[in-house]
Amino acid sequence: MPMYSDKVMEHFRNPRNVGEIDSPDGTGNVGNPVCGDQMTFYIKVDEDGIIRDVKYKTFGCGAAIAVSSMVSELALGKHIDEALKLTKKQVAEELGGLPPNKMHCSNLGTAALARAINDYKKKHGMPYEEIEDPEEEEHGH
Ligand code: FES
Repeated sequence: MPMYSDKVMEHFRNPRNVGEIDSPDGTGNVGNPVCGDQMTFYIKVDEDGIIRDVKYKTFGCGAAIAVSSMVSELALGKHIDEALKLTKKQVAEELGGLPPNKMHCSNLGTAALARAINDYKKKHGMPYEEIEDPEEEEHGH
């Protein structure tokens, strides 16, 4: 059992912004090929490109749930281009750290959010960069 920070445990027990958005402006899904964990992010974006609502559904480990919760909080109120700059390292730091064998879980969060933003950009004919699937070698239980 890896050692989790108090903040990870707190977000795991009481995740923020869980759920789904009706007719979202963008949807992004990502799965880890090894553990099978899945995460879907939904966003609402206003005319200035600000993320006004974020929800997600996560089928995953405790770290993945805490990560989705933290990513949702960090993304809320940010411009889409700012939200795209969120890194898994930043998310892990905000959570007070993640055990090394759980870092891949934070990758899921930033990737799913980025794909939701890309989906929004695609619908609006804006250029975007494809988000790669999480790498298998990053995974370790
Ligand atoms: Fe697969 Fe955490 S996301 S073990």
